[in-house]
Amino acid sequence: MAAEQGGPGIRVLRSSGFSVVIDTSTPSPTVLYWGADVGDDLSGLAAIVEPPISQGSLDVVAPASITPEHGSGYPGKPGLEGHRANGSGWAPRFQPADVDADSSRLSCISVDAIEQLELHTEIRLEHSGLLRLRVSVHNTADVAYNVAALRVCVPVPARAMEALSFAGRWTNEFVPIRESLRTGTLSVENRSGRTSHDRMPTIFAGTPAFTESSGEVWAAHLEWSGNSAVTVESSPNGRRIVSVEELLLPGEIVLEVGASYETPWVALAYSPDGINGISDKFHAELRGDSSHRSTARPVTLNIWEAVYFDHNLDTLRALADRSAEIGVERFVVDDGWFHGRRDDHAGLGDWWVDQSVWPEGLWPIVHHVAALGMEFGLWFEPEMVNPDSDLFRAHPEWVLADTRYPPVLGRHQLVLDLGESSVRAYLFDKIDGLLSSYPISYVKWDMNRVIVHGSHHGRAGVHQQTLGLYALLDELRAAHPDVEFETCASGGGRIDLAILRKTSRAWTSDCNDPLDRQRIQRGFSYLFPPEYMGAHIGGPVSHTTKRRHSLAFRAGTAFFGHLGIEWNVLNASADETAALASVIAQHKYFRPLLHAGRALRFDHSNPAVLAHGVISEDQREALVSYAVIATPESLMVESLLFPGLDDAVRYRVEVINLVDPFHGAFRHQPQWTSQGVSVSGRVLRTMGIQPPIIDAESVVLLHLRAE
Ligand code: DGJ
Repeated sequence: MAAEQGGPGIRVLRSSGFSVVIDTSTPSPTVLYWGADVGDDLSGLAAIVEPPISQGSLDVVAPASITPEHGSGYPGKPGLEGHRANGSGWAPRFQPADVDADSSRLSCISVDAIEQLELHTEIRLEHSGLLRLRVSVHNTADVAYNVAALRVCVPVPARAMEALSFAGRWTNEFVPIRESLRTGTLSVENRSGRTSHDRMPTIFAGTPAFTESSGEVWAAHLEWSGNSAVTVESSPNGRRIVSVEELLLPGEIVLEVGASYETPWVALAYSPDGINGISDKFHAELRGDSSHRSTARPVTLNIWEAVYFDHNLDTLRALADRSAEIGVERFVVDDGWFHGRRDDHAGLGDWWVDQSVWPEGLWPIVHHVAALGMEFGLWFEPEMVNPDSDLFRAHPEWVLADTRYPPVLGRHQLVLDLGESSVRAYLFDKIDGLLSSYPISYVKWDMNRVIVHGSHHGRAGVHQQTLGLYALLDELRAAHPDVEFETCASGGGRIDLAILRKTSRAWTSDCNDPLDRQRIQRGFSYLFPPEYMGAHIGGPVSHTTKRRHSLAFRAGTAFFGHLGIEWNVLNASADETAALASVIAQHKYFRPLLHAGRALRFDHSNPAVLAHGVISEDQREALVSYAVIATPESLMVESLLFPGLDDAVRYRVEVINLVDPFHGAFRHQPQWTSQGVSVSGRVLRTMGIQPPIIDAESVVLLHLRAE
């Protein structure tokens, strides 16, 4: 029970090793603390958090509540920004009206009787260890209220002096940015109308030089697939506040009488020992979600980089034959199968099979794939329309745009207005029709342009669009519960906790170059577990970077995700084909461990080394990836230290023979690399193990098994 042991209005939510202290006596609730467990004895708590008042300041210190108030004297970004047409309501001040709490949930209602607004705050401590917050504002007056922003704000201590956020772009997602936090504002804003490649709605704030396994870390993530803003405000009064919001465009939310606006959930996590502890909670959250699929993730072959738009039945049949031979379990027909889609200039919106390419419908390939014992998957990009399409010619008014202006095109396409129920009904009808006619087990749901000038009935429409997307996905999932959906947006442009609760896979990046993928996938792993990470073995030369890499490096990199192939394997040599078959067989063997174990990133002093691993829940088995991504400065690199093992267990450590791993300028490799070695978990954690010498841009996989 979140009893008021700490003093009037003070509530504490606790789970293993973690506490949240909330003051419900403030205008809207205030998170006073979230961090290491404060224990049972909470007496005196209210007194110790009382702030001193300095000369030269107001006579009160306004609470840094979840929705802080300018009108109460809070100096930073207010929680609620808005106004009515006559200018009133711009600085509301609330009073607590009702609190309802149990041991893991708390909800509060706060009222501003003068401005006739209500705030509802919900706080949940989830089984995963995530703390989730959301707020809604209700207009109780008989005049509309225009919401400019509704932020969820929580403090982090001033010792969280360093921030990690993510930049990126198409084919280079999850680029980590480290910054010092000083007085002022760190702002991560995304206006692309989707989660974005470039400004993930996520921030980690930690003690100086926090690493994967050390330092205190506080993390915040917005569960939302539209516009977003995450801000860290460090004010001269000594407070450091993280605020997280759906970034609302001007006039986007106008609350008519009795209407309300609710923020997306904000997911928070704390770790006393590095980022891995944050990842554990986020991974547990998705794995515990009702949408989570615990069935084996089928090894996939996607035809995109094999044939692009050149859909030829004989070629696809031959590709399917080869796929089945090497152990592929799902065959995916990507872009190019529907009406008028011979290249990327036309066809989006016309979701029926192109008769000129597929005179008998998709049946010839569907039957062929089924006869080979594989599942069949199909690509869609439902939110888009090409001006050169029957749909656009029939319904030019269905686009999410201000038609008074020339449209801004992206990849020759416009966005459909999913806030409009007739548009959703059309898309549902078309996609449902195909999913009902063909045995399709998987849908790759793509989205290939940012939303610019997204106008819904003359108003900014990204909010409605995002809700419309969720509604359409939910409706299709309800009608086809066995179909798996993948989130793709030119690769990893829409990966967040909200969309992953509705999909079971993300196309991580259009870059299949293993060198870049090593880092991109590491970024993905900060919040999302490996079985959600689409990871494909591309051809010898990457289509996006033009770099050439060994099959060992390509396979060893993709091995840790939901494995697939994106390569015209008809061009693979006999040796490559045999090696691929062996990689797939090994992946299937390790899949239960890889897709359910604890995924950890290792620290290493040498920037040329990237290592990570997956450890079984009982800590009796692990698979570790040791990659060298650049030429190290030194001939040898420091020992590799293994986090997450059981100190008291002896492990047999062996190199896995994944396509001839050893290439490098060595005369002699440590003997353990050929014969294996038995070492205690404690030695592996403290002294570590001397890695072999391997070339830059290669990887070695190690298998650890308890003896
Ligand atoms: C972008 C995706 O990321 C690719 O994998 C592919 O599906 C293309 N779109 C198809 O147009």
